[in-house]
Amino acid sequence: MQKNSIKNLAVSGLVTAAVAFGSVAQAEGNSVDKSTFNGWKLYKRQRCETCHGPTAEGGAAFPNLVVALQNRTKEEFTTIVLNGKGNMPAFQGNKAVVEGIDDLYTYLKGRSDGTVPAGELTEAQ
Ligand code: HEC
Repeated sequence: MQKNSIKNLAVSGLVTAAVAFGSVAQAEGNSVDKSTFNGWKLYKRQRCETCHGPTAEGGAAFPNLVVALQNRTKEEFTTIVLNGKGNMPAFQGNKAVVEGIDDLYTYLKGRSDGTVPAGELTEAQ
């Protein structure tokens, strides 16, 4: 009985945090919240994947975003993606990326903190 109420408290705490910050990924296995799911689709469709790899772990000439997002604020992330950096193109002219930047951040931040697994995702119903 007591165990149960402690568990419920922890779960409602998680939900509150997600609502308060708006960019905290929620995942149960590969089933994820809408924002994370949209971010994942953008990551693949807008060619982030071409350079940063299917699991976002980068390659020889491309940074590992799973590691990078542990040290980047959301503001820094947004600035880099929209303005470009070094050999990375600017995405400020890409409407889908501009409008979906929060979702992209949610997805990649979730990958970096271990909440979101690599690979195919489905949207939680
Ligand atoms: C043409 C290849 C290419 C594409 C496409 C690309 N990137 Fe990059 N990205 C790079 C390179 C190269 C860097 C390293 C830039 C530097 O530090 O000089 C980088 C850096 C970054 C960084 C900063 C990493 C750090 O050091 O903290 C982020 C975040 C990032 N990319 C996200 C994205 C996202 C999101 C997309 C898709 C919307 C994307 N990138 C598409 C090549 C690419």
